[in-house]
Amino acid sequence: MKLLNAAAAFLILLPTLAPALDPLSASLLVATAAVTWDLLSPQSWLRCSLLECCHVNNTLNYSALKVQLESRLFGQHLARDVVLKAVQGFSTNPGRKKPLALSLHGWAGTGKNFLSQLLVEHIHPAGLRSKFVHLFLPTLHFPHDSQVKLYKDQLQAWIRGNVSACPHSVFIFDEMDKMHPGLIDAIKPFLDYYEQIDGVSYRKAIFIFLSNAGGDLINKAALEFWLSGRQREEIQLKDLEPVLSVGVFNNKNSGLWHSSLIDRNLIDYFVPFLPLERRHVGLCISAEMQARGLPPDERLVQAVLEEMTFFPREQEIFSDKGCKTVQAKLDIHEGAAGARR
Ligand SMILES: *[C@@H]1O[C@H](CO)[C@@H](O)[C@H](O)[C@H]1NC(C)=O
Ligand SMILES: *[C@@H]1O[C@H](CO)[C@@H](O)[C@H](O)[C@H]1NC(C)=O
Ligand SMILES: *[C@@H]1O[C@H](CO)[C@@H](O)[C@H](O)[C@H]1NC(C)=O
Repeated sequence: MKLLNAAAAFLILLPTLAPALDPLSASLLVATAAVTWDLLSPQSWLRCSLLECCHVNNTLNYSALKVQLESRLFGQHLARDVVLKAVQGFSTNPGRKKPLALSLHGWAGTGKNFLSQLLVEHIHPAGLRSKFVHLFLPTLHFPHDSQVKLYKDQLQAWIRGNVSACPHSVFIFDEMDKMHPGLIDAIKPFLDYYEQIDGVSYRKAIFIFLSNAGGDLINKAALEFWLSGRQREEIQLKDLEPVLSVGVFNNKNSGLWHSSLIDRNLIDYFVPFLPLERRHVGLCISAEMQARGLPPDERLVQAVLEEMTFFPREQEIFSDKGCKTVQAKLDIHEGAAGARR
């Protein structure tokens, strides 16, 4: 505040000072004062470009997100559509009663992290680096079961503190299957239909849960479609939803289900990720090559694909690790190509 007053005094004094200065210094002075002034106003363009701002209005650009998901997330027509629907409903409904809670399910490397990243970039342009986006990995942030009580208090204080500071905060919990049930219970009150908790409203926040839970059942369903000669794109949400909820419920080790998140309908959308086929992994490789500024090279794509493993053994349809190992495998090939040159 002191600085603000100083800047104001400066602007007022300027006309009196100006005649004493040469034109260059005077314009520098004016410019400095203007910049200072701008930086001090809470939602100014300059301030928000240099230091991040939490925008009062939800600025999510639906059509831009749609374009990104269509062009960069491969082989996940269900996940794409569910997330777009969820986001549209969430950002256009001012009367919503709870924060948005998405639960992303699927095998490793199918795009759960990637989709989360694209989504948050459309809410906070700095994406995962944004101070309003919080990513938690249980094995990293909450490693010791004996400390659950402490973690619980800490996590609740963090969620409360961050949502007070920015209502549009996003919380991503990766590896939900490794999360202690006590910690899931700690998140529960924030997801519920409360107008406010201790004066803080959580309705504009977004919670994203990622897990492998149900992944094998999704894979099984996708394989059945394939074996019966049907198109992957014909798989509809209703084909998977029962599989997912029943399967996941029955799996006592899947973390999420120890808690009453499901019982109480606190999760708004279950988002299934299908196992990726060879052609999808090929697209990931090409996209990664393009991102690295490499020219298109079908031979390199095939060479990287050759190193991937596919299941089931007999038919080799779906990738074991999806696009997860693409970067590392490409590094090796690029290194080898570089050495040959
Ligand atoms: C935010 O939205 C309100 C109406 O909902 C509008 O009056 C206001 O101009 C918007 N502010 C910005 C910065 O877009
Ligand atoms: C949303 O994104 C589209 C495509 O990227 C762009 O053309 C449009 O101007 C954006 N709209 C707003 C309101 O920013
Ligand atoms: C916000 O969350 C981060 C963890 O992501 C934590 O370190 C920080 O203290 C929290 N801020 C507040 C104000 O609680």
